[in-house]
Amino acid sequence: MEHFANNPPGGKKEQLALTSCNLFDSSADRVTVHFINRDGERLTATAKEGESLLEVVFNQNLGIDGFGACEGTLACSTCHLIFEEDVFQKLDAITDEELDMLDLAYGLTDTSRLGCQVCVKKAMDGLTVQVPMEVADMRRELEVGKQSK
Ligand code: FES
Repeated sequence: MEHFANNPPGGKKEQLALTSCNLFDSSADRVTVHFINRDGERLTATAKEGESLLEVVFNQNLGIDGFGACEGTLACSTCHLIFEEDVFQKLDAITDEELDMLDLAYGLTDTSRLGCQVCVKKAMDGLTVQVPMEVADMRRELEVGKQSK
């Protein structure tokens, strides 16, 4: 897998991959999260409070094809997830950088967020998120655009 932590395409400012959330390493802070994969399969994970949803997918090898291609550097939008309305309303505020990348995701909804930017909280226990049917890796789109010029 390629690493873009120090030089992400698209000129986005440097970010430390996979560390956007504050980690609390306590077994008392386990949170159950369900992902509905593209084929409809329900993948259930036990997350730690403070992990990003990208870290949950990676750490537990959930097998979501193409998910998190830029490893949390806000350069791909492959970590696009769709939330239930009530949960979406309670998520931390979205940054301009996330909004810019989210705009490029396929299948965008009113309750879409990027999984690498959403931190697991205890109140999310039992959360179910939908993996969109299509995935857009903006790093590949940019490469294709360069080659066709
Ligand atoms: S993992 Fe690439 S934007 Fe989230």
